[in-house]
Amino acid sequence: MFGWFGLVVLFMTIPAREPYVFADIRPTLAILDTQNYLRQHDSVPEVYASDIAGVLLSEGDIRNGISAVSARINQDVRSLSKSAGVVLVTVLHGAMVFSSDLMRRLHFPFQTDSVAVSSYEGTESTGSYQVKKEIGYSILGKDVIVVEDIVDTGGTLDFLIRHINAKNPASLRTVALLDKIDRRKPQFAHIKADYTGFVIPDAFVIGYGLDYVGHYRGLPFVAVKKK
Ligand code: IMP
Ligand code: MG
Repeated sequence: MFGWFGLVVLFMTIPAREPYVFADIRPTLAILDTQNYLRQHDSVPEVYASDIAGVLLSEGDIRNGISAVSARINQDVRSLSKSAGVVLVTVLHGAMVFSSDLMRRLHFPFQTDSVAVSSYEGTESTGSYQVKKEIGYSILGKDVIVVEDIVDTGGTLDFLIRHINAKNPASLRTVALLDKIDRRKPQFAHIKADYTGFVIPDAFVIGYGLDYVGHYRGLPFVAVKKK
């Protein structure tokens, strides 16, 4: 009797493991009419406009993706039988713009924190990862939601999942705005965020928090960088 009850309680505390993807835009690669689009964004510095090969996700696209992903998270967190508290961990600096929009659509109480990871690619094909800024709060027994900008080779998310699980949270969910799934390294083939906004083609993207050596994070849309 207790065994069954225990199993049900356990089931209710395990995050949804079926990864949620709002949209896979790889087949269409619907780059908008960039010149026309940029004319509507007179806040984009001229010098940036000439660095953009195409706009991949408009502000509207991003808004729709965040609506869908946040609805899923709200639903899953509501179904937690009980929680000692939710901590939203933003992965700096790329996810800060996404995270600030996402958190304003979450309908449950949470604390905010951040973590920064750097990767070093040596001659080895496997990168080595290091925490540059540690999570400040204790997440022991808490329900943690990690917010990432993009999953590329999968190394950073793999590292973060192991790093955070070592701190014994009650549960761990991962959210990524973007996933360049075609770029996943074979050893990280199993790595996927629990919630993904958009699966995108293999292209270097900038804007909406994503950078190229620190630049372009303030663009209000996601664009493909001109080579
Ligand atoms: P991964 O460890 O290869 O999955 O890379 C993840 C990190 O690399 C992300 O958190 C980003 O900071 C960065 N990154 C990967 N692809 C892009 C891109 O297209 N534009 C900007 N940053 C990227
Ligand atoms: Mg990053």
